[in-house]
Amino acid sequence: MSFDDLVKSLDLAAKVRLLTGASAFTLHAEPAIGLGELRFSDGPTGVRGLKFSGGRVVSLFPNATLLASSWDPHALYEVGGLLAEEAMAQEIHVVLGPTINLHRTALGGRLFEAYSEDPLLTGKLAAAYVRGMQDNGIAACLKHLVANESETERNTVESVVDEATLRELYLLPFEIAALDGGAWSMMAAYNDVNGSPATEQHHVINEVVKGEWGYPGLVMSDWFATKSAAPAANGGLDLVMPGPGGPWGEALVAAVHQGLVTEDVIDDHLSRLLLLAQRVGALGAERSWPSSLPRPDSAVRREQLTRLAASGMTVLKNESDVLPLDRSVRVALIGRHAVETIGMGGGSAQVNPPHQVSVATGLSELLDVTVVDGVEVRTRPVPSRFLTDPVSGVAGIRATLYDADGAVLEDRFCPRSTTMVGMDDDFPGTVASIRLAGRVGADGPVELGVLGVGSWTVGDASFSLEADGHGFGEEVLTPPLWTGRYDVAPGFLFEATVTPALPMGLFGLIGHSTPRATVDVIDDAVRAAAAAEVAVVVVGLTEEQETESVDKSTLRLPGAQDALVEAVAGAARRTVVVVNAATPVLMPWLSRVDAVLWAGLPGQEGGHAVAAALLGDIEPAGRLVTTFPAADGAAPAWSVTPVDGKLRYDEGTFIGYRGHYAERAPEPAFWMGHGLGYGTWEYSDVRLAAGDSPAVTATVKNVGARRSREVVQVYWQPDEADEPVRLVGWSAVTVEPGESALVTVQPDERLWRRWDSAASSWRRLAGGGEFLVARGLGDIRATVSGK
Ligand code: BGC
Repeated sequence: MSFDDLVKSLDLAAKVRLLTGASAFTLHAEPAIGLGELRFSDGPTGVRGLKFSGGRVVSLFPNATLLASSWDPHALYEVGGLLAEEAMAQEIHVVLGPTINLHRTALGGRLFEAYSEDPLLTGKLAAAYVRGMQDNGIAACLKHLVANESETERNTVESVVDEATLRELYLLPFEIAALDGGAWSMMAAYNDVNGSPATEQHHVINEVVKGEWGYPGLVMSDWFATKSAAPAANGGLDLVMPGPGGPWGEALVAAVHQGLVTEDVIDDHLSRLLLLAQRVGALGAERSWPSSLPRPDSAVRREQLTRLAASGMTVLKNESDVLPLDRSVRVALIGRHAVETIGMGGGSAQVNPPHQVSVATGLSELLDVTVVDGVEVRTRPVPSRFLTDPVSGVAGIRATLYDADGAVLEDRFCPRSTTMVGMDDDFPGTVASIRLAGRVGADGPVELGVLGVGSWTVGDASFSLEADGHGFGEEVLTPPLWTGRYDVAPGFLFEATVTPALPMGLFGLIGHSTPRATVDVIDDAVRAAAAAEVAVVVVGLTEEQETESVDKSTLRLPGAQDALVEAVAGAARRTVVVVNAATPVLMPWLSRVDAVLWAGLPGQEGGHAVAAALLGDIEPAGRLVTTFPAADGAAPAWSVTPVDGKLRYDEGTFIGYRGHYAERAPEPAFWMGHGLGYGTWEYSDVRLAAGDSPAVTATVKNVGARRSREVVQVYWQPDEADEPVRLVGWSAVTVEPGESALVTVQPDERLWRRWDSAASSWRRLAGGGEFLVARGLGDIRATVSGK
């Protein structure tokens, strides 16, 4: 039977039922038409599975900016394939990623999930990821459509973006990943765009995406983002997530009966859902799932994740070739991020990995290392540093979920000391209360506490914790907390019970030792640095800054980390700084250190990857995917705070390097595209072939001492007024020392288009202008006139 026949065989109510999820991450099956249950999982740094937390152990991948720093579509194709394996191992059909919003301002809390400030780089890498995943019959989901670049007031903010900017910048990655990558699904965002919710965007979804691009795939809502029945259904939204409740159901059936929505519109949504189901093998006979896929802690997965992480790491500075480190060198390894390396950002991208290798562990396996903990890096206490499950003794806590009669619904181990209850909704009843328990792995004075919205009982104390914001982000992903000082004996069991105030919520236990005085920590670091040949200081951000639901307010490193680096640099013979963060940070100490390695959020094998990069076992051949401003505010777009509910994208298409190059912002600390690797390069014979969108060729010679990978980047500055410089293509080559290679870069035609708002159509920009062949626009190697 054709889709049409299948759809027509169902009555209206049966059709509409299928257009809202059945649970947090599943869809309804419909045996009458051979439709099986479709199962979704979050990506993009690992396939977490059907539970928000407390779910199965899965591989934790390097974060999106680190993967993108490879500028390597082959690497992203590989990532898509590996994520598909992780999905197949769990019988998941759809992985919710890649995130292809742009780095409009460095303050965006979720930039760690997205690739770059550049639409071409983002689109091309996303297309490769999509192909890698979908070649295995697992659907990718491009998110979040569209103009969703920051988190402040994220459920209500209206992004105000002119049509040219929307199309030339923010829609371009979706266009490339949908057309070149053939993505099978997309997710409509939380925010409004130019007056209507992203989930009701007739213009964007119906006219541009499904109309002009001819996109045949499915558009689902972000979780709880759908605000209406008829306007959303008519606006092109195909599927409401999650379910089973929500604004469609009977209201949409009624809207059809009232003539507000035609049944053809419903049929189109359902046909798109059936196409998705067919593509992932959930229509007709259920697909067979492979049985022997690599486990998250298998040697093969560890090699893949180490290599992918290390090769995206980026050498920002390397005076006198202090890197790669000699294996005989005595190292003082300093910093909280050295001992507790941050492998992932916060929010829905989190997964439960089998382990997270710290830099201290990774480097100590290969070198003579003295490890010194660093200064505090958080303002909110982390859920737990040293609580263990009273049942298994493993790091984490035990959560027991009860119904209203006191019967146990589930008893689970929570590896992150938190549990997300409402989203894990496959319980046999409603959760009325939760008992959390953890054994304290220390004695003496400690700080213990709880987090989550509800009524708590902790020992003899009873109190309520309330959220200070509204919505999924504020109440659930960054819930309120309470802590108290305790003096505990070894093996103390800390227990708390909560009656949740929200149907869904994040609940957890907090536990850590009382922090040491900063001055003592820095003294210890200085002593260790002075005694070593090289000091390696690992600094960075945490999930307090790099998270869904919250934006940053500064690019300064949290806590006294800058003071720590300054002090170490003053005492050490050589200082190498490793930055464990996904997005730009300020480096006031830059001129006083010898080398800086940007390490991103390197995933479960982070420490091994940093060690391999520092020693040169794997070349950290990354190039920045976003421009690092030199100071807070020194960027073409900065504020993420809506004014009267509106966030105006007034900088137009001049974000990131485009705006800096046009002198709309001061010279940045580092340009997008910057990255030294371990090679030294000479460029010659840079030429432009004739033609409408001409290819650029260059000969690159590796005059350094090591085999290295060069990324030849071509930017174009049009002659026309008010047109920013733009990346039009790139090509990478790996060259032995002393050898040369001829590189051809074929610019992408789509960067020659300009949206003519008056005519409501594209027009081609005049040729001419200048091609800049550059290693980031701070290091332009050749300029060629366009013809
Ligand atoms: C996020 C999405 C995610 C969804 C499901 C939302 O909060 O914005 O990116 O896929 O939750 O977890």
